[in-house]
Amino acid sequence: MLHFSVDTKACVSCGRCAEDCLPQVIQMEGKYPAIPNEEHCMRCLHCLAVCPTGAISILGCNAAESKLLKGNLPTPEQMATLMKGRRSVRSYKKENVNPALLRRVLDVAAHAPTGVNARRLWVTVIDDTTCMDAFREEVYQHLEDLTRTNRMPENPRRQFFASAPELWRKGLDPIFRHAPHCVLISNAKDAPCREQDGLIYLSYFELMAQSCGLGTVWCGLLYWCLRLVLPELIPRLGIPESHELGYAMLFGAPAVQYQRTVERGAAEVHHTIWPAR
Ligand SMILES: Cc1cc2nc3c(=O)[nH]c(=O)nc-3n(C[C@H](O)[C@H](O)[C@H](O)COP(=O)(O)O)c2cc1C
Repeated sequence: MLHFSVDTKACVSCGRCAEDCLPQVIQMEGKYPAIPNEEHCMRCLHCLAVCPTGAISILGCNAAESKLLKGNLPTPEQMATLMKGRRSVRSYKKENVNPALLRRVLDVAAHAPTGVNARRLWVTVIDDTTCMDAFREEVYQHLEDLTRTNRMPENPRRQFFASAPELWRKGLDPIFRHAPHCVLISNAKDAPCREQDGLIYLSYFELMAQSCGLGTVWCGLLYWCLRLVLPELIPRLGIPESHELGYAMLFGAPAVQYQRTVERGAAEVHHTIWPAR
């Protein structure tokens, strides 16, 4: 059930909700919009977002709980500062992130788009330093055992994974960068945009987290470690069998403060012409 409802006192019968409805499930029935057949609704909520008078409620969402975009968007300058100022953080305070702050970041990141609005991502978070330490220790221990017993699977990063435990025992943490937390994203194996959805999600997560003063770093090393060497840990993290691990990101309160953006100059862009010659 979509629970699509129209406040007929507010509705001005402009038809914008019907016009912007991609699967065309909204029909103007007399003066007001209606969804006679709910089956093909994409649940994108464009109808609620586009309504100029806030007359539409759907799926438990309504205009009163929405934020007006006009006057509330960050300026392009603010967006550029965030996007140019975000950094890979590899130095963290050993403390838990405030749960309310983390909740906020996760809730906002969950607004990232997914292909066909499938929204089937599974977000796995280690949000406790004690758990993270136990996980980290177990990963290095497994890598050490595999190397010692000559059972490290053939993979392009074999040498790195073989040498990582020794660095860990020396006080370095080449995989987890001493981060107090991590987020792992996975998607249903049959999701229409299985690989892309998770990467987009983590891009949103990173920008929101860094705008809240948290540090993040994409962690290909953890992703590859889990995918290529220790896949048996994936279900133990609570990731369902029906899902595929998409990527990993470390995060926490940063122990390094970056002071400024770096200005890399103009982007290299190749403008094509069509028809091609
Ligand atoms: C897909 C991806 C995977 C990455 N994996 C790791 C990683 O495993 N460990 C790490 O320390 N940094 C990792 N990074 C961070 C990059 O090294 C970093 O983005 C690059 O050095 C530029 O620094 P910046 O992010 O501060 O601009 C990764 C970045 C991306 C985009």
